[in-house]
Amino acid sequence: MRILVLHGPNLQLLGRREPDVYGSDTLDTINRVLTEKAVALGVEVDCFQSNQEGDLVTCIGDAPGTYAGLIINPAAYTHTSIALRDAIKAVDLPCVEVHLSNISQRETFRQVSFTAGVCIAQIAGFGGKGYVLALEGLVEHIKKQ
Ligand code: DQA
Repeated sequence: MRILVLHGPNLQLLGRREPDVYGSDTLDTINRVLTEKAVALGVEVDCFQSNQEGDLVTCIGDAPGTYAGLIINPAAYTHTSIALRDAIKAVDLPCVEVHLSNISQRETFRQVSFTAGVCIAQIAGFGGKGYVLALEGLVEHIKKQ
């Protein structure tokens, strides 16, 4: 079983970007911990970060046939992107949305997610650990399908 993990804009800056909000883990650390968890669960993860909305849309569109599910932190596109929402809906793969921060406790514009409604779950507020929780939940969900 292969899972595609997508990180949206500015997440390449993790570690030095607002560490009080997003924590001190770098994206490399998050991906490494997630890959170790995948090995423990007997699955594979491929991690990809982009600052371009269209690249993320293309990755999602290409996922069926290779991937059994998706984990995505759309970052700022969470609050703006109908294109990402449509891509997730179109491929009909189970998708978990992750946010490092608890977006429900932040500015009003961050409290709206365009993508959560087409995901099987949203995990927010656990920092990098959220990706590990998402992987556990997603793998269990796919095995039950
Ligand atoms: C974020 C929350 C978004 O509002 C923000 O634009 C991000 C990161 C998070 O992981 O908490 O870039 O998705």
